[in-house]
This record gives sequence, C-alpha cells and structure tokens, in this order.
Amino acid sequence: MQEQIEFGNNKSESHQSNAGSEPRQEGSLVGQHRAGVGRVLSDVDSSSQIVSLSPDGTHIAKIYHGSAHEQCDHLESHYAPQQISLIYWDPPFFTGRQHEAEQGAFSDAWPDLSTYLDWIRNHIERWRSLLTDDGFLVVHCDWHAGHYIKVIGDMVMGWDNFRNEIVWHYTGRRQPARLRVNAKHDTLFVWAKTDAATFFPIFDPYDRDGYVNMKKQPVHIDEDGREWIWGHRGKGQSHAYRIYIDEAVSRGKAIDTVWDIPIINTTAKERVGYPTQKPVQLLSRLINLCTEPNDWIWDPMAGSGTTLVAAITEGRNVFGGDNNPQALSLMQQRLNDLSASHRQLTF
Ligand SMILES: C[S@@+](CC[C@H](N)C(=O)[O-])C[C@H]1O[C@@H](n2cnc3c(N)ncnc32)[C@H](O)[C@@H]1O
Repeated sequence: MQEQIEFGNNKSESHQSNAGSEPRQEGSLVGQHRAGVGRVLSDVDSSSQIVSLSPDGTHIAKIYHGSAHEQCDHLESHYAPQQISLIYWDPPFFTGRQHEAEQGAFSDAWPDLSTYLDWIRNHIERWRSLLTDDGFLVVHCDWHAGHYIKVIGDMVMGWDNFRNEIVWHYTGRRQPARLRVNAKHDTLFVWAKTDAATFFPIFDPYDRDGYVNMKKQPVHIDEDGREWIWGHRGKGQSHAYRIYIDEAVSRGKAIDTVWDIPIINTTAKERVGYPTQKPVQLLSRLINLCTEPNDWIWDPMAGSGTTLVAAITEGRNVFGGDNNPQALSLMQQRLNDLSASHRQLTF
C-alpha cells in the first residue's frame, strides 16, 4: 500500500518549479462523479518528498514533506488546476508562542501582525486556482487574528463568496473573568470558490425530550398511541397540522453555525501529543458538509494529520503536508494505524 517511504532532501520542487522547468503532467485528482471521466488519480508524482498510502485500500492519502508553498508548487506542476474540492487551513494563530507537546513543537512567534498577515495573504492568493468551481476554502483561526483573516479572505476569494463563520465551541478549564472572559471557541471561515458550490446538508439527532422541550407545546396522543404536537405553516396562515414526534426526531435538526465538539483532552484515546491537535469529529463534520465521497481535500499545514485521518475515514482522498518532520511522522503513523484497523475489519 505504501509507495514510497523516503522523504529525502530533494528540494528541487521549490518555487522554481513554477517557472516551468519541470514538464507539466496532467494527472487527475478528481473522482469520477464530478469529472465525468475515468481517471481517478494520480500517481504521476514520483517526488521523494511524498509518501502515498491507501489505508482503506480504496482512497489515497498523499503526505508531502515540505512547506505549504512547496506543496502548492507540486500540485500546480503535477496536476491540472481545479481539482481540489476543499482546502482546510489550520495555520499558526498569531499567539506569539512556541507550541510544545510531547510529540512535537512549532513556532507561532512573529515579528509583528503585518508580517503574519502578509504570510496569510501570500498563501491564500495562490490557492484559489487549485479549487474546483464548486470547491471551498476553510481557514481555521481564533480571536488573535481571525478578524483580519476574514478581511484578507474576502479580498482574495470575494466577499460574495463568503458563506459562513462556523464557531467551534468547546469546553475546558475556566477561570473567573478578570481581564478577559474565557475564550472557548475557534472560528472557521468558509469561502466558496464560486456560486456553483453547495453544501451537503447535515442533520444532528434530536432526542425526544429535547425536541418536546424545545417546542414548548402540549403533546397529544393519537388513536394509535403516537405522540404529536400542533405545527403551524407560518405567520398569517392559520392552517395547523400535526407533527408526529417520532418522525421529527428521526429527521433530526439541520445544523447551525455553532458546533459543540469537545477538545482532545489529555487522556483522550485520539490524542497523539502534537500541539494544537484538532478533533477528528470536527474535521469529519466539515468534510461531510463541503465534499462528496471520493473528492480531493488538501491540508497544507496538517500537523498531526487530523484532516487526513478524517478524510480517509469519510471516504475522501487527501493531500496533506507540513514543514515539520515531527508532524510528518505522526501523520504517517496515524494513517498506518488506520490501515491496521481496516485490515482487522476486513480479514
Ligand atoms: C495549528 S497546527 C496544525 C494542527 C493540525 N490541524 C492538527 O490537527 O494536528 C499548524 C501547523 O502548521 C505547520 N506549519 C507552519 N508553517 C508552515 C509552512 N510554511 N508550511 C507548512 N507547514 C507549516 C506547523 O508545523 C504546524 O504543524
């Protein structure tokens, strides 16, 4: 399953590859359902900076050892444009800190805000052309610089293409507020490439009591013993109808922009010891919202590889990378673990 295991030191695919010295190969990253043509992928790239795996035997995860710009060079020079359905970017947040944990470290210290924001803009500006017309760019950030990132993203992607600000709300230790109230959310800004992009609706389950409490209406029971409440067709319309509670509960509720998902605590099984590791549940939800099975996703600063794990688990293909060797080995380890669990399931 693993095509190549050496990352090597071959930096020949740095920015110069944009200059056109490398012959362009029109590989396809697109799944059949979107392109309508047969070539699903892929293995046109033989860079020593890539490890290519197929943990479930069907979908592909490509791990690139190098900076986000090098990854972009690689995608531009090896594949036709417009083949990525989702770019998820979780950059350092401008915390001014050196992030450290048992299995990795990376710096988030910058000379000043404008240097950081130039860096943000330089990346986003290059990525739009890689997206499919119905693709999405999602930038994950927090209060440190999120408001500036929103403005930069609007300038690059178009204000009209901004779709949502998703709030990832989580629990954790809380201090009594003195200088600042506890900040317990991150922000995910979602831009579509064009009007052609549509989400794939997600519904959260209701439990019966939660539904009834939310509706604040008396519950009736029909002749067959089924519970129902009155529904109304909206303002100005007197027409009332029955809503059967079992049906409403099984339909679930369409999600909104606040996602309550626990952070990975110190004893979580999922925890791999990389600083700022995000939960698979968060990425799975985002992937299901923005992409279809077999689509391609790119995470240019993938850290411990959460996006890769979620993508393969959800039946997508994924290209991910990082410039930190500690991140690379964790990513590879997590995908190997997925392969092992898949083998256990299938044999
Ligand atoms: C916030 S962390 C990503 C965490 C990841 N989402 C996870 O769940 O583990 C940001 C990552 O960006 C990487 N990084 C910083 N600058 C980079 C660059 N220029 N190119 C590639 N990766 C970079 C860091 O090494 C770090 O792993």
